[in-house]
Amino acid sequence: MDKMQTTSIGGGKISFVDEGDGPPILFVHGFPLSHAMWQEQINFFKHCYRVICPDLPGFGRSESMDPSSGATLTMEALADWLVDFLGAIECESPVHFCGLSMGGYIGWQFCKRHPTRVRSIIACNTRAGDDMGNIRRGREIAARQVMVTGSKPIADAMVQKLFFQHRPGLTETSFYNQIHEVISSTDPASIAAGQRGMAKRENVSAWLSKLGSPVFFVAGQHDQITPADEMQQNASLVENAEYALIPNAGHVTPVENAPEFNSAVESFLGRFD
Ligand code: MLT
Repeated sequence: MDKMQTTSIGGGKISFVDEGDGPPILFVHGFPLSHAMWQEQINFFKHCYRVICPDLPGFGRSESMDPSSGATLTMEALADWLVDFLGAIECESPVHFCGLSMGGYIGWQFCKRHPTRVRSIIACNTRAGDDMGNIRRGREIAARQVMVTGSKPIADAMVQKLFFQHRPGLTETSFYNQIHEVISSTDPASIAAGQRGMAKRENVSAWLSKLGSPVFFVAGQHDQITPADEMQQNASLVENAEYALIPNAGHVTPVENAPEFNSAVESFLGRFD
């Protein structure tokens, strides 16, 4: 079990894990998950790195920035919030920013807005483009729906998409049940705010070639949400980018195939020693 700590940012209580010593790695979870998705990375990297995993505001055990039902949680606001968070826990050195999906969308904004705070970016199962019109509209519908139905139907639907469905015994795995539980217990208003924030996110594809930080794209072989081909295409836009395809994984590679994910990230980080 990880050791959760708490701090306060703008009056809101924030839960996070901060373990180990060494160059900091900031792990930023996907939507609508929590720091708990990084448990295997905490166990593995804390021996050589400072491993920092916050619950983003409104997710996991952290309080929301704006609990109203019509709130929008933009990627820009979350990137700025992460800088405040790093200040609150006295992490001054530039971080290796490892973000999954929505965590990656936030990572691009973190790099754009706070380039001196970044040592490298590990972009896991994430896009650089924005949403097509129909997807954007779908997010608004989903944001309204979750306020009526609560979060459990979202959890039921998302576990059908997040994981590699042909994994033997998938529904009996502890991670499947844990992620279902995390989503079911997320405040519907946070889910709605996240959907609206992602719908508004910027298309950073053209900017990728100007990215000043080393970048490692990590894709899941069976990802239905962010297809591996799209990630490989994004990697080709960035000079000296690295790319890895993790087998036997869908959209949540750090969870579904932690040994291969950890070893790929360890080897990427080895170039900074
Ligand atoms: C995530 O895993 O963070 C979400 O699938 C991102 C999204 O909805 O675009």
